Amino acid sequence: MPWRWCSRRWSARLAEKAGAGGVPFGGMDTMPDIAARLKVLERVIADPPHVHPDAPNGSAWRTSRRCYEFLAGAVTPGARTLETGAGLSTILFTAWGCMHTAVVPIPEEAAVLREYCETRGINTDHLSFDLRGSEQALPERYGDGPLDLVMLDGAHAFPLPIIDWFYGAGRLRSGGIAVFDDAPLPAVRSFLDGYLELDPRWEHVDGTRKWRAYRRLSEGSLAEHESEQAFFRGPKPSVSRRAVGRVGSMLPKSLRRVVLPQ
Ligand SMILES: C[S@@+](CC[C@H](N)C(=O)[O-])C[C@H]1O[C@@H](n2cnc3c(N)ncnc32)[C@H](O)[C@@H]1O
Repeated sequence: MPWRWCSRRWSARLAEKAGAGGVPFGGMDTMPDIAARLKVLERVIADPPHVHPDAPNGSAWRTSRRCYEFLAGAVTPGARTLETGAGLSTILFTAWGCMHTAVVPIPEEAAVLREYCETRGINTDHLSFDLRGSEQALPERYGDGPLDLVMLDGAHAFPLPIIDWFYGAGRLRSGGIAVFDDAPLPAVRSFLDGYLELDPRWEHVDGTRKWRAYRRLSEGSLAEHESEQAFFRGPKPSVSRRAVGRVGSMLPKSLRRVVLPQ
């Protein structure tokens, strides 16, 4: 689905309206190549939406430039994309011509992002917002069809990133990409290091300390029997717990219940 830049005349009118900080993005008809997408990225970084007033920079919470560059290489116009949370990433997916859904429970954020697109001549025909928490929206949207890329950057408290992965990344086609931001946060890190890194059906394809991208090598629902997860052993018991277990196994059964912690 090609990204349709506004006509030159419309661009000129927007430029007038938007003033120096909001010059429209350009006059290209499509966004087929990565160089064009990277140009858009530069423009959005230089002119970010004021979407998260509580962000330390007073404008927008954001991930690293490298992550956005990765996204620019991972999608093409018409890609079916979904993100939890919203921000610069929403503008980028939209401007790049993706069929994009942003799941975010704060209507004001959606309004700011829509207005940003309108004043910069970015076509929003294929952008939709679901104004609910992802924990509520994603299970209900589960039957909505396959996705090419999901960006999981909404709520970061346990167990929300896992819910987002299950219902969001569970819709990825084989070869689709899941991007996790804020990887150092405990709920994200423990899931990625404790589970996803061990699962051979997810290939770690890129990332830094802040974010990680995985390619899905399977498809269909992520619900399965534990016998499908032989790679997953759970956390290792501590040395003292293992020692107690070993000593306990040498005791007669009648004594075990008395001596061992239950
Ligand atoms: C770090 S920001 C997203 C930044 C964005 N991905 C980017 O790179 O520009 C986190 C977003 O998550 C949203 N959020 C918070 N709780 C959420 C929830 N339960 N479901 C979905 N989004 C949520 C916030 O409103 C905010 O827009």
